[in-house]
Amino acid sequence: MLLTELSHLTGSAGDATATALLNCLIREICAPEQQVWPDGAHLVARLPRAGVVLRTGLARPPVGPTYRLAPPYEERREDEWIPASWDRLANLVAGELELATGRPNPEFLTQVDDSHTALAAILAARGEPSDDRYIASEQALVAGHRFHPSPKSRQGAPGDWVQYAPETRARFRPHWLAVPEEFIAEEGEPDAFTALSSYGPTAPPGRRLLPVHPWQFSLLADNAVLQKALADGLLLDLGPSDMEAIPTSSVRTAYLPDADVFCKFSLDVRITNCVRKNAWYELTGATALNELLPPIFERLNSTLLSEPAYRSVTLPDRRLYEGLGVILREGIKSLPGTPLLAGALTDPYNTLLADLPALSTPESARAWWDAYVARVAPPVLRAYLEHGIVLEPHLQNVLICVDPNGMPIHAAFRDLEGTKLTAGRWNLTHLPPRVTESLTYAPDRGWNRVVYCLLVNHLTEIAAAVADLHPHLERTLWQDARKHFAVHDHHSQVRALLAGVPLPAKANLRTRWSRVADRGATYVPTPNPLAAPKPL
Ligand SMILES: Nc1ncnc2c1ncn2[C@@H]1O[C@H](COP(=O)(O)OP(=O)(O)O)[C@@H](O)[C@H]1O
Ligand SMILES: [Mg+2]
Repeated sequence: MLLTELSHLTGSAGDATATALLNCLIREICAPEQQVWPDGAHLVARLPRAGVVLRTGLARPPVGPTYRLAPPYEERREDEWIPASWDRLANLVAGELELATGRPNPEFLTQVDDSHTALAAILAARGEPSDDRYIASEQALVAGHRFHPSPKSRQGAPGDWVQYAPETRARFRPHWLAVPEEFIAEEGEPDAFTALSSYGPTAPPGRRLLPVHPWQFSLLADNAVLQKALADGLLLDLGPSDMEAIPTSSVRTAYLPDADVFCKFSLDVRITNCVRKNAWYELTGATALNELLPPIFERLNSTLLSEPAYRSVTLPDRRLYEGLGVILREGIKSLPGTPLLAGALTDPYNTLLADLPALSTPESARAWWDAYVARVAPPVLRAYLEHGIVLEPHLQNVLICVDPNGMPIHAAFRDLEGTKLTAGRWNLTHLPPRVTESLTYAPDRGWNRVVYCLLVNHLTEIAAAVADLHPHLERTLWQDARKHFAVHDHHSQVRALLAGVPLPAKANLRTRWSRVADRGATYVPTPNPLAAPKPL
């Protein structure tokens, strides 16, 4: 498919910023108060407290919790519709939230503005895609999260980070630090770092190598303990590595193709809801989960990419311990077929999905979706229902492996930081209490998160992306998906899903406004596309 055919979905940084804001506004503020109306080819939404009425284009009527809004975005003034720019919309959203919550948020407009600036910089700096389709998919999240008010926001000027941004299709060289053995902190499989270090320079005797993200290194440059350790020669900066690192969709996790491993670095930068720092309890938690979980996924005919070890330095400063902490994640070469990042299939700035031969006709697209849901949904449901494992299978944490025709043959899940265990199901008494706390979720909260990530964040967007190619299919796709849930209908939660209970959607706009940690995020109800059609 030619890019121009999809151009109604892309557009400028301003349009994309406005679309993300409106998506959040409608889902989290207007729809829960019944202030949204379809009006022909438009959607009209009223800000309940500010009383302002907005209008957007609508590519097709929504089937579930996502919509295909399209510019122009307009605001009603008297009897006229006048254009509403992204920054006007940001101001309106801020005004509405201040009225709705009784609290201001002086950071909000800056975050939206940063996101807009970042997206414009990304669009301007974008290089050629990699020939490797997996790498191209990791570097394809240009618009990013569709339901976040500042999806691309990154602290610092674009000049500080474009050279590390996956969306610009960058590659960079990590630094190697040589750390005395007595200052190394490490848990997990003892040999995990040996293989990676063999791609680095020879460490001086008595030292081990620690890979460091150069962006993070510059963010830590003002740290007095680090400055002293480098000046005294306690830590040796051996400079940029010979091997290239490819930043992946999470920005702070890089793929090292030579070694076929990922390094999940800390990055003291807020990206969407979190500052991307590996907290000490997450470092330990990842290794604890790594011992428990990957064998279960083999039995579920799926893969959870293992995180065999972490390494850091034990200088007397928590910020350094966490800031230089790096988690290794297994690579992708042992996966069947070609892995593609799920989110890449839904990003409006690329044609990865449209380019898969398996989606060329409506019939084949239906078969493709069936194979997709069959690979992704059962392991997630069974992990929760049978094993008390709460995955975080949002679009950025799932790789779908496809055959040469593009048909899904396998799913790989990743990110142990977001993976939790339900309270009461697992014996974690061998772990420090803070680690156990961060690994454990109450069962109901865990289910909310599974349903949000799997259905609202992920499958809804995939179905809508298929429907962007074949507009009449969306309802059918959801009815086809029911059978993959119905096999688990001896669980009452699954029966509720099939009965059409509203789905919980994470409220990213409200969460950003109230500045609560991601773990405390609120959810809002959204339409459930799995519901059976109403009998006449
Ligand atoms: N649909 C999506 N859902 C969640 N995250 C998304 C989505 N699209 C893009 N992202 C980006 O992917 C990353 C998800 O982060 P997360 O998995 O929580 O942490 P990690 O950095 O450990 O991978 C964030 O950088 C977020 O902005
Ligand atoms: Mg992730």
